[in-house]
Amino acid sequence: MSADQFSSGRWRRKNPARLVFFFLCLWSLISFSRAGRLSASRQKLEVQKHLNRLNKPPVKTIQSPDGDIIDCVHISHQPAFDHPFLKDHKIQTRPSYHPEGLFDENKISTGHKERANDITQLWHMNGKCPEDTIPIRRTKKEDVLRSSSVKRYGKKKHRSIPKPRSVDPDLINQSGHQHAIAYVEGDKYYGAKATINVWEPKIQQPNEFSLSQIWVLGGSFGEDLNSIEAGWQVSPDLYGDNNTRLFTYWTSDAYQATGCYNLLCSGFIQVNSEIAMGASISPVSAFRNSQYDISILVWKDPKEGNWWMQFGSNYVLGYWPSFLFSYLADSASMIEWGGEVVNSEPEGQHTSTQMGSGRFPEEGFGKSSYFRNIQVVDSSNNLKAPKDLGTFTEKSNCYDVQTGSNGDWGHYFYYGGPGRNPNCP
Ligand SMILES: *[C@@H]1O[C@H](CO)[C@@H](O)[C@H](O)[C@H]1NC(C)=O
Ligand SMILES: *[C@@H]1O[C@H](CO)[C@@H](O)[C@H](O)[C@H]1NC(C)=O
Repeated sequence: MSADQFSSGRWRRKNPARLVFFFLCLWSLISFSRAGRLSASRQKLEVQKHLNRLNKPPVKTIQSPDGDIIDCVHISHQPAFDHPFLKDHKIQTRPSYHPEGLFDENKISTGHKERANDITQLWHMNGKCPEDTIPIRRTKKEDVLRSSSVKRYGKKKHRSIPKPRSVDPDLINQSGHQHAIAYVEGDKYYGAKATINVWEPKIQQPNEFSLSQIWVLGGSFGEDLNSIEAGWQVSPDLYGDNNTRLFTYWTSDAYQATGCYNLLCSGFIQVNSEIAMGASISPVSAFRNSQYDISILVWKDPKEGNWWMQFGSNYVLGYWPSFLFSYLADSASMIEWGGEVVNSEPEGQHTSTQMGSGRFPEEGFGKSSYFRNIQVVDSSNNLKAPKDLGTFTEKSNCYDVQTGSNGDWGHYFYYGGPGRNPNCP
């Protein structure tokens, strides 16, 4: 006897009211699971559509040893050109002007072995992108699914910016973002530069991150804050691993609707075929051992007004068109350099996520992480030492910062810390 016959035989003996109830239940069960399936398939569709928007058809594909896929995409097919204002944009292949300064990597001799040129990206081991293409880290389905929503993928949570000297303690505790930075303000700035020590800090929980970067800021800290950011980061949520990666960020409305990491929205126009945003950098520094650093320069081209970015001494990566910004269309009003981490449970025990090398500034070279040769670009397009360098940290027992200056390193600072420790419970 089949299951069908069995159940119909059984049910014929029950009263009709129960039968109606049973069918009602069955119907709602079926429609529930259909709704579930529908929303699941709608989400799948939404994710797929987003992936199609982000991942442009490649000319060539390179498999990186760290699991990344690098797509070499024709320069005129990059995500930037999805922006309505960039439809007829003529790509600038190089900046009109390059700022001049004291600490040129080609001229500088530091007391320590210069290693900036040894740093590269892992995917280079397996190939190169052809001319007229740019390397783009392919976004995978898992990358998008790790984000809270398709819309938030590649975006920062609001208000992660350190605002020195007017700290609202409640806000700090709520957001869980902690910083150890040096900064300048009170002038018009047209760029910033630094050589940043590269480490691979430990992250306690996947929804936390640790980064070391330059902030180029415009406007007051309101809803319309403009920011251009570049440096290295470890962010398991964004990338799915604990590797140290090169990144950029921009926003013109304090992290609300505009902007994103890397090339995850339209805006930044990349011209370089050798460096991929969001790709792993290698090697990283080791405690009391080899030290590696990267230099990053962001500056405003005085002729065209675009904000350019350079990595190391020879990689001009590309530019943010001036029209993306309001305040930064003119100049920056503040520059910050330093580290940021997220303490995801600000009410509980402090996170043990590390900033920099995970060591405090007192420990110095080879142990604590540094920024050296920090400079700003002035209105005559010259790189200059920062005047009146301030420092800021929310909880110096968790992460701290200490500045100094000397001939080789110009203005520099050590920063970072271990997070949770007996003085930072
Ligand atoms: C915020 O954190 C500070 C420093 O740890 C602490 O002294 C203060 O009580 C906290 N404030 C709130 C509202 O939790
Ligand atoms: C990242 O590091 C944490 C510990 O620091 C570890 O628990 C986690 O498995 C690592 N994640 C990956 C993807 O390797």
